Amino acid sequence: MKKINIVFGSVYGSAQYVAETLEGALHDAGWQVQFWPSEQLAAFVPPEDELLLVVTSTTGDGDLPENIMPWFSMMKERAPYLPGLSYAVVALGDSSYNTFCGGGKQVDALLGELGAKRVGSRLEIDACETMEPETEALTWLKTWLPLAASVEP
Ligand SMILES: Cc1cc2nc3c(=O)[nH]c(=O)nc-3n(C[C@H](O)[C@H](O)[C@H](O)COP(=O)(O)O)c2cc1C
Repeated sequence: MKKINIVFGSVYGSAQYVAETLEGALHDAGWQVQFWPSEQLAAFVPPEDELLLVVTSTTGDGDLPENIMPWFSMMKERAPYLPGLSYAVVALGDSSYNTFCGGGKQVDALLGELGAKRVGSRLEIDACETMEPETEALTWLKTWLPLAASVEP
């Protein structure tokens, strides 16, 4: 059975809801899902033989939400080399900001620097375009699942 870790960053709850929705859908699709509560995240180095899904909104001016910052900072400082890690990023933002989806882009860039490989494209969900980010995320998941299923552990 495929294993996946879900990490989220959220200020007002939208990204958390998207992460929880994807958790349910992945579980229904037969995946073993580990959903990481923010409090337990700071020491979590993603295992390379499991997939990683990061769902995060953007706050401030292209910044990551506070609840994912301890994890992001730890990963940046420790800089584990993770060439075997496959990951995906679902970024929530608002295209009226110049720094559209800046938080998700930061996570994507960092994981790339650590040698990890993104599976499929980064999903960017625009709050200007949709009131139901979870619906967009579920549509994305349908095309992402076959790609992820073919990743070797
Ligand atoms: C104070 C504030 C700052 C924001 N800054 C950005 C930004 O720099 N770039 C962006 O794409 N979206 C920005 N957003 C939009 C949020 O990322 C977007 O509304 C998202 O859906 C919120 O998700 P959350 O409820 O999980 O925090 C900002 C929203 C607020 C309220």
